[in-house]
Amino acid sequence: MQTLFIGAGAMGGAILSRSLQAKKLLPENTYVTVKSEEHAYTLLEDFGVNASTQLPDLSTITTIILAVKPQVMKCVLDQLKDVPEGTIIISLAAGITLSTLSAAVPQAIWFRAMPNTPAAVGAGMTALTAYGEQAKPYTKQVVKLFEVVGVVSIVEESHLDCLSALSGAGPGYMFVIMDALADAGVRMGLPRDLAIKAAAQTMYGAGKMAVESGEHPAVLRDQVTSPGGTTIAGIAAMEKGGLRSALHDGVLACLARSNELGK
Ligand SMILES: NC(=O)c1ccc[n+]([C@@H]2O[C@H](COP(=O)([O-])OP(=O)(O)OC[C@H]3O[C@@H](n4cnc5c(N)ncnc54)[C@H](OP(=O)(O)O)[C@@H]3O)[C@@H](O)[C@H]2O)c1
Repeated sequence: MQTLFIGAGAMGGAILSRSLQAKKLLPENTYVTVKSEEHAYTLLEDFGVNASTQLPDLSTITTIILAVKPQVMKCVLDQLKDVPEGTIIISLAAGITLSTLSAAVPQAIWFRAMPNTPAAVGAGMTALTAYGEQAKPYTKQVVKLFEVVGVVSIVEESHLDCLSALSGAGPGYMFVIMDALADAGVRMGLPRDLAIKAAAQTMYGAGKMAVESGEHPAVLRDQVTSPGGTTIAGIAAMEKGGLRSALHDGVLACLARSNELGK
């Protein structure tokens, strides 16, 4: 099996490095096409993959991961017009529908995946949709590819863009919240590195508890808010500051932007 990554930036690079590390992909069977010569050279040096700014001979490639920005997708799809029938192509691009992708390269077996950057540390969240009956037999194979970088959920395509705005962009939101918590620590007099470590480990631990227990987050929150206590006082002040509505509005603004870019 020969795999081609087109694009190896924040997202493609995370999946590529983790899959190579886990030995799920072998460097000699892995091709990477990027825009800049320097990046291609670094990929070759760091991972030993076949990296270039030009596409390889597509007749030998069985699976393609499209990890370029939605804005450059049209130009990349034009270059894939002649892939052999049955090539599996997985697009990571937000906002570009499977019917648009399949219309551009109809002989391919199409999937859309919406991962996130914690894929780089094996803690990614990937939502996956197969295009039509012809793709279904290959779903297990594609799920396996993404399980190397974390958890995979098979979803309806109508949910993919919502998940792009929630979990795809989510690490960005989490880093802002983490930074803000650390700032609060510094404001109270904590050294910056200790404040960041405490904020990061707290977010990691809370996420792990929610995932492992399967409890509703409100139940977990209730467990740490004793009546008349300190944590509920903190939460009340955050709610007054619009924490929840800011998160709602942020996720919806992300979805609106993704819809704009997909047009
Ligand atoms: N970042 C995320 O958190 C995230 C989450 C979910 C989904 N996605 C989706 O993943 C895709 C990639 O996003 P990203 O954040 O990884 O973008 P990125 O960091 O900007 O990386 C884009 C990659 O595409 C390469 N590239 C640009 N033009 C190209 C061309 N014409 N031919 C071949 N390669 C080309 C770039 O090459 P150089 O390295 O040489 O510049 C770079 O490696 C997007 O469609 C996005 O919607 C991203």
